[in-house]
Amino acid sequence: MAHVELDGVDLAFGRRSVFEGLSCRFPPSRISVIMGASGMGKSTILRMVGGLQPPDRGSVKVAGEELVGLGEVALGRVRQRLGMLFQNGALLDSMTVLENVALPLRERSRLDEATIVDRVHQRLADVGLHDVDDLLPGELSGGMLRRAAFARAIVMAPEILLCDEPFSGLDPPNVSRIEELLLHLNRQLGLTLIVTSHHMATSLRMADQLFLLRDGGCIDGRPETLAASHDSAIAEFIGEDGAEFLARHVARAASGEPS
Ligand SMILES: Nc1ncnc2c1ncn2[C@@H]1O[C@H](COP(=O)(O)OP(=O)(O)O)[C@@H](O)[C@H]1O
Ligand SMILES: [Mg+2]
Repeated sequence: MAHVELDGVDLAFGRRSVFEGLSCRFPPSRISVIMGASGMGKSTILRMVGGLQPPDRGSVKVAGEELVGLGEVALGRVRQRLGMLFQNGALLDSMTVLENVALPLRERSRLDEATIVDRVHQRLADVGLHDVDDLLPGELSGGMLRRAAFARAIVMAPEILLCDEPFSGLDPPNVSRIEELLLHLNRQLGLTLIVTSHHMATSLRMADQLFLLRDGGCIDGRPETLAASHDSAIAEFIGEDGAEFLARHVARAASGEPS
């Protein structure tokens, strides 16, 4: 069964039609990566799954529950299953890292202060941050900031994590660290990840399932299946570099070497 499922979704903004009959199913405890050129609707899919943007037509289900037509209270309940890392999702500048990460717990739970601090420390450790409680966001590097934003996104212990362009604006070492972090959250905590990205090599390497947006809908499959496809649009999208990368990656995985 899909953990998140869109079926027959149409959506237009004014005269600009973004989706026509979009259907996609995101499997549980897997990493799904949505790729597509800028303006194709990657962020909009995450906003629909988060119940922030209703489709004009069609169905959006999270853990079997239909979001379309739900009232705010019921939507709030569904949102508890979801963590969201927004594109360039910044921390609040005037609050310390501890206060930023604790914010969802303080606003949406009745846990006592000691339990909250304990939970925040666990989540910071999950993302590889230590001794940062009293630092202000301005005192963190770009990579640390992104990891702190992840800690905040998972502090309510969601089942599903929506990540909009988690690699954007990071240098290569930090891209690798965030890739490792996403794998860790998926493999160790069992989170279902739905990630949008432009980053071809990283996406091909970490995706269990890839979704390529085009013509108002999407094509999906395992990365190696898509790379082997004879469809010219898919080949063009993945490109020679991507196909070569995947071929090497698949060969290495088959021989048990790390890539
Ligand atoms: N709230 C909105 N109002 C009007 N147009 C929007 C809105 N949200 C997105 N769009 C348009 O929908 C299209 C898809 O946007 P988006 O999901 O942000 O694309 P991507 O994330 O793939 O770059 C774009 O043409 C964008 O301008
Ligand atoms: Mg976007």
